[in-house]
Amino acid sequence: MHPALLEILVDPGGGGPLTLEGGAEDSEIISGALIATDGRRFPIRAGVPRMVPGRDSSVEIDAGATQRSFGAKWAQYREEDTDRLAEFQYRWFDQRFGLENEDGFSELLTGRRRILDAGTGPGLCAVRCARLARDARVVGMDLSDSVTAARRRHAQHGNLDYVQGDILNPPFRPGTFDFVVADQVLHHTPDCRRAFHTMARLVAPDGQLAVYVYRRKAPLRELADDHIIDMTAQLPVDDCLEFSQQITELGRELARLDAKIKLERGVPLLGIEPGEHDVQRLIYWTMLKCFWSEELGWHQSVMVNYDWYSPVYRSRHTEDEVLEWCRDAGLEVDNLDVIESGISVRATRPR
Ligand SMILES: C[S@@+](CC[C@H](N)C(=O)[O-])C[C@H]1O[C@@H](n2cnc3c(N)ncnc32)[C@H](O)[C@@H]1O
Repeated sequence: MHPALLEILVDPGGGGPLTLEGGAEDSEIISGALIATDGRRFPIRAGVPRMVPGRDSSVEIDAGATQRSFGAKWAQYREEDTDRLAEFQYRWFDQRFGLENEDGFSELLTGRRRILDAGTGPGLCAVRCARLARDARVVGMDLSDSVTAARRRHAQHGNLDYVQGDILNPPFRPGTFDFVVADQVLHHTPDCRRAFHTMARLVAPDGQLAVYVYRRKAPLRELADDHIIDMTAQLPVDDCLEFSQQITELGRELARLDAKIKLERGVPLLGIEPGEHDVQRLIYWTMLKCFWSEELGWHQSVMVNYDWYSPVYRSRHTEDEVLEWCRDAGLEVDNLDVIESGISVRATRPR
């Protein structure tokens, strides 16, 4: 971590100050510890401060299930897929958040001094922010150990740090950041609404929050999801990966049929609209998640299915809920994008 990060890190347990022990305040601090006023220690390992309180702490954290499921996911993450995944994610991000393209995102980041990518996973959004906003300090935070590999991979950026920390107990004071992004993350916490408000509090006046959460689906799909995930979230990692491969094969073979059907009536009660449907898409959106993308290929498609079927927490939400969260947090909506899979919102905290 860079010494400048010390200016904004606080005790996640109560917001108190931290003192550095052991690490020289060099250009980078690779190991040492941050000590809270009551003596609790937060180690710095491999250049990453570990701000997740221990099990005996009074600070509430989820029981490690999220760390396990995403830790396993990111362990499957392959260097050779990085560029393809980044390109896909960046394009989709710009579309959903109403930015058109990278220039639009660059413009949005102009003048921002502190940026947080909460639930950064392999750190792709954080590194993009660090590249586009060179004068800003950027922090990528994740509950899982994905931040160790992210820091190693992106160590060349002097304005970027990774932190292992919990969105529900963030190691930052309210109003610290002028851009906070939590993309495809908050629905994986035990309380999505609370996570939204915790992130909103970190946004300074004139700053923005950008969030994407899963959208509630058609009734049969919701039923199937609840039932299947009750089973798959309990499976050992290898078995859940095997299940994800089976589901990916099903999705791929249905997609390759390239079959279409035309429905005059549809079944609106089940979310099936009249009109022409691609059979794989129809099954996917209204009955069973079986993701397949020719563009992403086999490995990434399996990971998308694993992402869905392995986490213990994966709540789904409506547009009205998201708008209410913004209102309650005192944020003004700049852009709202609702697609079948999820809801993206970008909102400003007025001065
Ligand atoms: C689906 S991934 C999204 C990663 C990244 N934002 C992206 O768009 O590629 C969700 C990430 O959220 C992280 N996460 C889940 N709960 C979290 C929490 N309470 N605090 C911090 N990160 C969390 C997971 O570890 C995982 O890396």
